[in-house]
Amino acid sequence: MGKMAAAVGSVVTLAAEPGEDAFRKLFRFYRQSRPDSSDLGAVIDFSAAHTARGTGPDARKVIRSQLSVSSVSDHDAHRAGLQPVSKWQAYGLQGYPGYQWHWVKQCLKLYSQKPNVCNLDKHMTKEETQDLWEQSKEFLRLKEVNKRRPRSLLEKLRWVTLGYHYNWDSKKYSADHYTPFPSDLAFLSEQVAAACGFQGFRAEAGILNYYRLDSTLGIHVDRSELDHSKPLLSFSFGQSAIFLLGGLKRDEAPTAMFMHSGDIMVMSGFSRLLNHAVPRVLPSSQGEGLPCCLETPLPAVLPRDSVVEPCSEEDWQVCTSYLKTARVNMTVRQVLAIDQDFPSEPTEEKKRDITTEGFCHLDDENSQVKRAKLNPDS
Ligand code: OGA
Ligand code: MN
Repeated sequence: MGKMAAAVGSVVTLAAEPGEDAFRKLFRFYRQSRPDSSDLGAVIDFSAAHTARGTGPDARKVIRSQLSVSSVSDHDAHRAGLQPVSKWQAYGLQGYPGYQWHWVKQCLKLYSQKPNVCNLDKHMTKEETQDLWEQSKEFLRLKEVNKRRPRSLLEKLRWVTLGYHYNWDSKKYSADHYTPFPSDLAFLSEQVAAACGFQGFRAEAGILNYYRLDSTLGIHVDRSELDHSKPLLSFSFGQSAIFLLGGLKRDEAPTAMFMHSGDIMVMSGFSRLLNHAVPRVLPSSQGEGLPCCLETPLPAVLPRDSVVEPCSEEDWQVCTSYLKTARVNMTVRQVLAIDQDFPSEPTEEKKRDITTEGFCHLDDENSQVKRAKLNPDS
């Protein structure tokens, strides 16, 4: 979110634990907040009318941002399932993809398949993780009638990596761990990046996060890409979340904002290397509802060269059942600068402060699969 200032005077009454930094304090506050209470009054809500509102002091920090309308033709936007750039609303930056169902379906049905890598690979064979969608769809349809059923594989999916596959242990990408990046998601990303003034952006790596209502994403900076002059794009679907955007250091208090379904966050320039986290996924107010933007009927006409495809009624049923208690986030990164290569000699592994570097895994409250090593909050 290019133009957002970082520090805030917070309204939080929670006492800081000894030695606790400002980011961690707000992370705990939002993790514990009651979804329907005044606790959330200070969270910026970009979707509130055309003036990004929120009642807290952070609301004043929202700046309307100009997009490069002429960089993306209405036709290319349409091909990517997006509205014309002239209709987007950008604050620091934010946009509205029209055809969210396509990306949700891809995340659940296609991108979760081999050769992409996912969290389940560590514990299961290739055959067992072959087709999570096929194995889970009947389970998900039964979700309404049988809440006490065992969790399906798709519901155990936490992350998928695309393109240059991020290595969670070494915190690196490498030339020899690459599979083709999905062309539809690359096209979407190129249009969004271009509209933000980043012509020639290349989608080289993706991390897809699958959140349950009790999932959190710990405080981290995405610094493993080798070219930080390129933006990081983040697309959110399903249930809303609270996103905390902090400073370069953890002792700067973060700004809280909602990420709703269809929101696109672009972290570029100064904000490319800021601390951030997701302390909370918010259950929909109706209990098990879907954001209305996901209930829109499928469009009748797609351009002939569209990269988004129609989604069958049957597939969408599985997706909506899943999304009633979930959030899906796709992040897209350019790893290398033009003409850049990975360092040929694997440089001596530096011992880093793992609590402030690299990524954090999703962390579920009741899960046994925490990776304490990588997540400072577990
Ligand atoms: C990430 C990330 C944020 C989100 O994957 O690096 O910060 O909104 N995701 O889920
Ligand atoms: Mn991140």
